[in-house]
Amino acid sequence: MMQEANLRKLRKSTPSQRRSRLDQALSGQLDPAPSQLSLADWLDFSAIMVENSYGCMPVPLGLASGFLIDGHELSLPLATEEPSVIAAASFAATQIAHCGGFTTWADQSIMQAHVYLNDCPSDVMGRFEKSLVQLTSLCTALLTNMKSRGGGLLGISAKHLDDTCVRICVEVNVCDAMGANLLNSCAEALRNPLEQAGLGKVLMAILSNNSVDRKAGARFGAPIGDLSRAGYKGLEFAQRIVAAWKVASLDRDRAVTHNKGIMNGISAFALASANDTRALEAAAHAWASKSGSYQPLTRYWIQDNKLCGEIELPLAFASLGGAVSFHPMAQYNLALLGRPDARELARMAAALGLAQNFAAIGALVGEGIQAGHMRLHARRLAWQVGARAEQIEGLATTIFEEKAFTLGAAKKLWNTDK
Ligand code: MEV
Repeated sequence: MMQEANLRKLRKSTPSQRRSRLDQALSGQLDPAPSQLSLADWLDFSAIMVENSYGCMPVPLGLASGFLIDGHELSLPLATEEPSVIAAASFAATQIAHCGGFTTWADQSIMQAHVYLNDCPSDVMGRFEKSLVQLTSLCTALLTNMKSRGGGLLGISAKHLDDTCVRICVEVNVCDAMGANLLNSCAEALRNPLEQAGLGKVLMAILSNNSVDRKAGARFGAPIGDLSRAGYKGLEFAQRIVAAWKVASLDRDRAVTHNKGIMNGISAFALASANDTRALEAAAHAWASKSGSYQPLTRYWIQDNKLCGEIELPLAFASLGGAVSFHPMAQYNLALLGRPDARELARMAAALGLAQNFAAIGALVGEGIQAGHMRLHARRLAWQVGARAEQIEGLATTIFEEKAFTLGAAKKLWNTDK
């Protein structure tokens, strides 16, 4: 893995210089090395991954740099089509690193699968107790490998959903896997035994993505004196951050956007490691509504002259199995991160989500969000009118300074520059 100090130096390089330095740093570690894959290889890969495939969709990859997480300096690979996400995360991470960085934590990787039974008899719970030994040994046999890795079956329980509908819950520590296949296999293996034991008629068996026992969190405390921004002194700026959080807790319309910004980082990090972005999003938004009203996933308060920020949410990240182990770019990005395990990935994701949110609301209550966006828009316009490589930055600066934010105006500047 490349040292963090060297990764930081890459900030001033071009994308191709950056890529070749990263390739060099990872050389010999990856088989296949993504840079050696041809278009035909990627087409083969797409056909293995999905049905009726015709290619792969390039999504920009970038490093969100400047993170200090539990004392470790880190740059996080993000795959995102949205400008500003990486710049914003890096900006906030660097600011928080100067104040001691993030402290993070993560639960064990506990997931559940459920078998839903209909037409259950009135003595269904007694029948369940009687068959528990058999059900447990069936699942234990399926989870032998997981047990040898330190995980495995934690328990099987039953609960009435209504008078005749019962849910059987299988709880498993899936260690570094996402666990979907394993959980679904366990749940499906119980279908026949449950029916044979007369517990009812099986409707369906599936894992739950509501991974509430697989949470991770992060927090930071930044001295108020270090926080002045956009003409606001430190204390006023900190109070504005807390007020922005309060608005999100009072107004669902704002909370959705607040949380969307958090997931800008977390989903991009998940995509870069080929984790299941939809599972993460579903669990995050369910968690946001756990009180019955949709709430912000972060929290801010002022204490001991510090602005404190915190996030905690379900983060079912895998570092092994499925697309994570198979996708060459996911392997590349995990190698860049020094091959973290699943819980370490979840802790990084929590810190990233908090950084992303701090950056977004900092801009919103500071100078406003459009200033940063328009700079990136200028770079896109520069590319669209034909600027390439080092020409892009020069033309984008002129577009930004002249406020030439339409294609026509940018074209005019490009033609004059040439
Ligand atoms: C944009 O993708 C995300 C933000 O809207 C998040 C927020 O408003 O907190 C900037």
